[in-house]
Amino acid sequence: MHRRIITPGALAAASLMLAIPASAASYSPGAPGIGDPYYPDYGNGGYDVSHYDLRLQYQPATDELAGTATILAKTTQDLSSFDLDFLLDVSEVRVNGAKASFATSGQHELVVTPKTPLAKDTPITVVVRYSGVPSTKTAYGFNTWHRTPDGAVAADEPEAAWWWFPSNDHPLDKATYDVSVAVPDGTQVLSNGTLQSTSSKLGWTRYSWRENKPQATYLATLAVGKFDITTGTSEGGVPIVNAYSKDLGDNDGAARASVERTGELVDWLSGYFGPYPFSSAGGYVPNTTTGYALETQTRVYYSPKQFAKGANTSLVVHELAHQWYGDDVSLKGWKDIWLNEGFASYAQWLWSEHEGEGTTQQLADYVYASHPADDAFWKVKPGDPGPDNQFDAAVYDRGALAVQALRNEVGDDAFFAILKGWPKEHAYGNASIADFQAYAEQVSGKSLSALFDTWLYQPVKPAAPAARAASIAGAAAPVQPKSWKKIAATNDVH
Ligand code: TRP
Ligand code: ZN
Repeated sequence: MHRRIITPGALAAASLMLAIPASAASYSPGAPGIGDPYYPDYGNGGYDVSHYDLRLQYQPATDELAGTATILAKTTQDLSSFDLDFLLDVSEVRVNGAKASFATSGQHELVVTPKTPLAKDTPITVVVRYSGVPSTKTAYGFNTWHRTPDGAVAADEPEAAWWWFPSNDHPLDKATYDVSVAVPDGTQVLSNGTLQSTSSKLGWTRYSWRENKPQATYLATLAVGKFDITTGTSEGGVPIVNAYSKDLGDNDGAARASVERTGELVDWLSGYFGPYPFSSAGGYVPNTTTGYALETQTRVYYSPKQFAKGANTSLVVHELAHQWYGDDVSLKGWKDIWLNEGFASYAQWLWSEHEGEGTTQQLADYVYASHPADDAFWKVKPGDPGPDNQFDAAVYDRGALAVQALRNEVGDDAFFAILKGWPKEHAYGNASIADFQAYAEQVSGKSLSALFDTWLYQPVKPAAPAARAASIAGAAAPVQPKSWKKIAATNDVH
């Protein structure tokens, strides 16, 4: 990246206009990445977004997406230019009303140079007018925009936003969202949060969704298609909006038998994690051929395939657990992924216990016993798996084992206090594994360095679930239960 040199004359003029102190001599471009070592060019430096307003139009027949993004942000340094992460074709950019120049750079950078440099701590309004065919755009050789027979879906991790809106694409920069999309009459639009309005004119129906709590960019979702939408309220008072493609075939029954239990499961999880943090909950099942689910905020994405064996409430529990662990409290860096997946997997163990299909301890013993010491499974460090192993089974299963080890170390009272206290401690914010360890130490009054090191950071099989043996009077060698083996093996989430 080259630095844009500002001439003394230009700076003096800008200083007069913007009342910049004369000492602010060095305006520089915002970094093209937010500083995450796993993904050096994801997110950007120099500004912090508070709100995205997306007003779009989408034509399923041609996959054309067009519209305007209005981004409210604040500068965090004296800025001569800044980047947005984006792949579609931009026709105009304005910063605080004035036309800005812009260029593409690298894999997915849109470099915006405002007419006048921006002083640190200035509120800015960035308007990006754009259009494009998302399915034709790639970065690093891939594309996560999924067309369906009747529409399209944006839901992926960590890369999803580049194909549909310009952003500071990293969980560290959370913001609220208004997503308003017009589609041909007869087609629906789903997104996060609550449906504020629908209106129809000239053959197009506009759906306007609002997420009023801070949301990471990868948790923003958009689905266009023909859906059957169900609404309700959980017993605990959480409004529920679910949606099913009209095209789910044989999987339709099992999908509904799973996702329609969202309200019940949100209430059940609240017992462990505290009040549900958002103003709406739900899930949607589009007619995609993908095989994964994603904890898109308030409106979970599910793939039809995941219901091919029948109802999969364990999966719903996993994705809903993320609403607290991942969405409400988001990671600071992608290396902190254990805070998402370890806890969402542990929630599945709690559900298994609730359903009489094996206790959390039995499931922990089963995972421990299923992987011999020379299994590559133990080589992945859940506390720092590296970008290539970010979603390795070890992050989920050894990750949940680590949670059980923590429980055995601190005892149930402290453990459940931590489980419930954590989302409150960092509500709507970001946190790291180090922050979690510090919090668990504070609540339990114990030093946990050795425990975290053993379960999250050593690329070897821990010698034995010793803490458990110690905590259970007279416990012999870990027993390997038989009856629920199959269940553990079919708790497939990814
Ligand atoms: N976080 C997702 C889940 O709960 C799984 C996931 C991992 C994923 N990598 C992904 C989803 C890529 C979509 C795309 O389980
Ligand atoms: Zn998950």
